[in-house]
Amino acid sequence: MNHIPLVDLKAAHEEVADEVRAGFERVLANTAFIGGDEVRAFEREYADFGAVAHCVGVANGTDAVELALRASGIGPGDEVVIPANTFIATAGAVARIGARPVLADCLPGTHLLDPQAALDAVGPATRAVVPVHLYGQLAEVTGLRDRLPDHVRVVEDAAQCQGATRDGRSPGSGGIAATSFYPGKNLGAYGDAGAVLTDDENLADLVRATANHGGVAKYRHDVAGFNSRLDGLQAVVLRAKLARLADGNAARRAAAARYDDLLADLAAAGRVVLPTTADGNVHVWHLYVVEVTDTDRDDVVGKLNAEGIGAGVHYPAPVHLTAAYRHLGHARGDFPHAERAADRILSLPLFPQISPDQQRRVVETLTKAL
Ligand SMILES: Cc1ncc(COP(=O)(O)O)c(C=O)c1O
Repeated sequence: MNHIPLVDLKAAHEEVADEVRAGFERVLANTAFIGGDEVRAFEREYADFGAVAHCVGVANGTDAVELALRASGIGPGDEVVIPANTFIATAGAVARIGARPVLADCLPGTHLLDPQAALDAVGPATRAVVPVHLYGQLAEVTGLRDRLPDHVRVVEDAAQCQGATRDGRSPGSGGIAATSFYPGKNLGAYGDAGAVLTDDENLADLVRATANHGGVAKYRHDVAGFNSRLDGLQAVVLRAKLARLADGNAARRAAAARYDDLLADLAAAGRVVLPTTADGNVHVWHLYVVEVTDTDRDDVVGKLNAEGIGAGVHYPAPVHLTAAYRHLGHARGDFPHAERAADRILSLPLFPQISPDQQRRVVETLTKAL
């Protein structure tokens, strides 16, 4: 039985293998292991790709969220509004700076942060809202920013949407965004990596300093910082993959459209709900997430996995129903859309190289499992 993975990292590596080896040789030859020419070149190329003025490469996406929050002046005792349905790292970054995550529900169709719910969650101690661009499309940012009080910043969690735009706008434009280059992301490194994106030079400088022990000049420490730097070998991988990202995203869009067709009958029969795209989005399909309506989701995922289909769940528990954030004091029922999604969603295999035959097998197996 041929396994169909959720994400095919081997296929992705084959496309860049020669370039990556040559780049690794360059880094080994000049021993630029941390920072250096490859990192600077990647930062310039990714800023251009993402249509922002500055990209600061850092060690991982969680640090990127933390650094973007810290640069925005968020600190101990502040409240930060985040969606209840996000990867736990969004909450972790808020908690690590001593701020308090305040949860808001998502919209039922797209699973993106509900801007009205976010506004309703803003209180006197709120200093930031973090829209999470889940599954490869952008949550509302500009409309939200316009409606927030002046002292509340928007910090975008753009970990899942490399190359996506909404109404022509990229994450970080006019503000600040954090992204992750975890290997399974649309732009994935060969280890941990991330970046902060912004048009604001002062914010970029502050992030760069904070991520380098508080300063960019050796032994000069202007702010209290820590160590979160991008290394040269990862930059080599990211540069090689960035050159292919637009094509990869286009292939993901084609594969998502194919799933829409293959699943149309199941959707018409009300057995699954297909993913929807918010107006104005150019979606990059980091994940293709369907909802099952009348079947036990875990049972369906178990059957798919048993047949060699790498289906997953992103994510099985909303933040307030994890043990780590029980202290926020919420109960089941507080964020009904996030809870309903967590119970019903499953992610089907999706990567640029997935073939129509593989997708047909995924859908046939899903049909049987339902
Ligand atoms: C929405 C979201 N935020 C933050 C992160 C954290 O990124 P990393 O794993 O690189 O720390 C991820 C990915 O893992 C993510 O999906």
